[in-house]
Amino acid sequence: GAGGIGRAIAARLQHDGHRVALWDLDGDAANEAARALPESSALGVRVDVTDEASVAAAMHATLARFGTLHVLVNSAGATGPVANVTDCDLAAWQRCIDVNLRSVFLCSRAAVQPMREAGFGRIVNLASIAGKEGNPQMSAYSAAKAGVIAFTKSMGKELALTPIRVNCVAPALIETPLLAQLTPEALGASLAKIPMQRAGTAQEAANLVAWLASDQCSFSSGATFDLSGGRATY
Ligand SMILES: NC(=O)c1ccc[n+]([C@@H]2O[C@H](COP(=O)([O-])OP(=O)(O)OC[C@H]3O[C@@H](n4cnc5c(N)ncnc54)[C@H](O)[C@@H]3O)[C@@H](O)[C@H]2O)c1
Repeated sequence: GAGGIGRAIAARLQHDGHRVALWDLDGDAANEAARALPESSALGVRVDVTDEASVAAAMHATLARFGTLHVLVNSAGATGPVANVTDCDLAAWQRCIDVNLRSVFLCSRAAVQPMREAGFGRIVNLASIAGKEGNPQMSAYSAAKAGVIAFTKSMGKELALTPIRVNCVAPALIETPLLAQLTPEALGASLAKIPMQRAGTAQEAANLVAWLASDQCSFSSGATFDLSGGRATY
């Protein structure tokens, strides 16, 4: 919730009438991001989304404050090691899988019961075009995001007969602090592939997520929605 895309989504969901909890590993940044929102109801929560007990505690704190859960957006992520597979350190590779994929499993699993009780649920996962195409020197990130896409499909099917919809977004390049983790070469290569010749904005990501989080998104589940300035063709 304190990252570039997470903040923009929180602001948009609050604008649409939701009370929002911003979860982040950086608790101070989560609190600051919550305070920066127009509605004072926003809650900042420190959480490590790779840790089962921490996710349970964050869910407990969120439900204690708001009583119910309608929407979960899984936006925590990190690019991980930028190196050829042969130069990749195992621990760094695993950390990348954990923050991008294990996190989606833990938070989504924790959200289902409260959403069943609410009689409504929307889970929106931030995947990446890397998960569809596989970026060179980013095998862990690409594999994790491909995992998010497949996980979304599985969960969407499992919950198809419930009021819960599960979808993911696959952005190409969005202007946020995450881009500082890329080398100038990787950034340039990524930009060069976008027919619109620009990065997207966090607001553009939030606009799509807001629809996926709404009751307007009723006949889509398990799906991957592109956000790539024309780059994705399948
Ligand atoms: N920005 C892009 O170009 C882009 C492109 C494709 C996909 N994405 C995906 O969109 C999502 C949001 O990206 P962003 O650009 O806002 O990134 P960001 O770096 O601005 O924000 C990511 C946030 O995740 C938090 N985080 C990291 N590890 C955590 C943990 N263990 N527990 C809790 N929080 C943790 C960080 O503190 C940070 O606030 C990510 O999943 C990213 O992979 C981004």
